Amino acid sequence: MRFVTAAALSACLAVPVLAAEIPGLPTISVERREQAVRDGFRYDKLAPELKARIEQDDTQRLCTEYRNEPPPEVAARIEKAALEAIVFPEDGKFLGDWKKGEALSLNGYGLRMGDDPKRQVGGNCYACHEMAPTELSYGTLGPSLKGYGKLRDFAQDAIKEVYIKIYNPNATVACSTMPRFGTKKILSIDDIRHVLAFLFDPNSPVNREE
Ligand code: HEC
Repeated sequence: MRFVTAAALSACLAVPVLAAEIPGLPTISVERREQAVRDGFRYDKLAPELKARIEQDDTQRLCTEYRNEPPPEVAARIEKAALEAIVFPEDGKFLGDWKKGEALSLNGYGLRMGDDPKRQVGGNCYACHEMAPTELSYGTLGPSLKGYGKLRDFAQDAIKEVYIKIYNPNATVACSTMPRFGTKKILSIDDIRHVLAFLFDPNSPVNREE
């Protein structure tokens, strides 16, 4: 297991802070923008764990400054730091139970104000991805994942790549808008294994025809 401390991460991502410039609009300082977000959430009244979620981390700050299109060297630094902090399953097994993975992919519960922190948090993958052809309700922010494992011959390399994608999508797409399920502890390693099985088990509806 390998962990990167917040301090090490900020040291390796440190770049001069730019002001967000939008043509035709006055330049707004980073401090002013962040204060506006805090004010919008009535920051002073929030529980500490919600306060922490309003503060941008280094990756989010960089992606904001470059409007999600960082120059290649900054993107490479973000991706490298994300990749180095990924924790892989200790037993080397990537696939869990596809039925549990399907339930997690459909489940959008958790992390909203008022949600019970003791209840299982979902992956909400269908909010952004088409997955099994049997499910007709899905979002299109992310690419379709229909037939995902079958289209990749269920290859072990592809499974590992998707583990990384789910754990921290910034490891391959620096300013990806997909949630960092592992890094942000939204899903556990076991949960990620179940979702991987939903994408890669030959019996999963993702890999069967309608
Ligand atoms: C808020 C929207 C959103 C949610 C929720 C989301 N994703 Fe994504 N996903 C994206 C976007 C956008 C991309 C493309 C950018 C990238 O690759 O990071 C993507 C890319 C992917 C890819 C790579 C596809 C490829 O081969 O190019 C996989 C696999 C994936 N997501 C799986 C999942 C799974 C599994 C879940 C649920 C645990 C999930 N996603 C939840 C938005 C989302």
